Formats: sequence, structure tokens, C-alpha cells
Amino acid sequence: MQSLNPLEAAPRAMAQIQKGALLTVASGDARNVMTIGWATIGFCWRKPILMVAVRNSRHTFPLMESAADFSVSVPTGDLKEALAFCGTRSGRDVDKFQALGLKTRESRRVQSPVIDSPAIHFECRIVFKAPMDPRHLDDDLAGLYPAKDYHTLYFGEILACYES
Ligand SMILES: Cc1cc2nc3c(=O)[nH]c(=O)nc-3n(C[C@H](O)[C@H](O)[C@H](O)COP(=O)(O)O)c2cc1C
Repeated sequence: MQSLNPLEAAPRAMAQIQKGALLTVASGDARNVMTIGWATIGFCWRKPILMVAVRNSRHTFPLMESAADFSVSVPTGDLKEALAFCGTRSGRDVDKFQALGLKTRESRRVQSPVIDSPAIHFECRIVFKAPMDPRHLDDDLAGLYPAKDYHTLYFGEILACYES
């Protein structure tokens, strides 16, 4: 495990996140993993921040609402099958960890585990969240929400960042 400065790792991480990364969240005894493609990494409130966007139609959404934290594992090896599966199948219907034989590793700083595969891992504590208000959405983007299942934006303080 090599510790990384999250803001220095951001360009490399973002290049892959656009193609897919794994968001893992645990709350109480429940946990889930889903593919994300939208995120930002930056600096706000004097902290390094990773923001993820989760539609309220996802099984992940109620878990994010009750969780204190989440992790994002950005694959550096071949996780194509897992990214496709976790991006099309819902934790409502299937335990994706079990179905894929996807192993997790205990996080250093948060309750949500990270994926035990070659990756850049971000452990994040939720410090702010904001459900999208469509009244403030640019008309050009409204077409992304035909079902009106808007995203909630979760801002996580990056407490640990490392490469496995
Ligand atoms: C490449 C890719 C990127 C995705 N990015 C996001 C995202 O950023 N936010 C989101 O809400 N859904 C995203 N999805 C869709 C979810 O991963 C998908 O709906 C998943 O089945 C939700 O799982 P869940 O119901 O277990 O939460 C993406 C899917 C793919 C394939």
C-alpha cells in the first residue's frame, strides 16, 4: 500500500473514473457497491474533497443517506467485468460482492470497506450532501433526467488515499 496525496493523484484517478470506478458504502450491516463515472476531486472547506453523484433511483442511495462515509476504488488493473456488472445490476436483486467473488479490505479510516484489487483507493467521510434542485439546472442538462431521478451530490473529505 502506497500512500498518495489525493490532489496529486487526481488527474490519473479522474482519467479512469470517467471510464468507471467502484463506489462502496456500508451502513450498519448493509453494504453495496456500484459503478460510478461522475465525480470530482478538489479542495473545499480547507479539505481535499471527493464528490460523487448518486441518483435517487439507485439501491445505493438509501445507504448513502444513512452512512457516515463511503469509499471509491479506482481500478488500475483489469476490472472491466466488475465495472460492467456493478454498473448494470442492482444490489436490490443481487449481492454483487458474492456474485463476482469481489473481495473487500477493511478501510484505514472509515467504516465502508475498499475493494481488494489493484486500485487507487479514496476513503471519504461525508461532510456535505445536496440533492439536486431541478429549478437550478441548466436547460442543456435537463435531458439527462427524463425520469426525474435526480442525483444527490455527496461531498466526502478524503481521509486516506493510497494505491494497492
Ligand atoms: C460506466 C458507468 C458509470 C456510472 N456512473 C454512475 C454515477 O456516477 N452515478 C449513478 O447514480 N449511477 C451511475 N451508473 C449507474 C449505476 O452504476 C447502476 O445503475 C447500478 O446498477 C446501480 O446499482 P445499485 O442499484 O445497486 O445502487 C453508472 C454505470 C456505468 C456502467
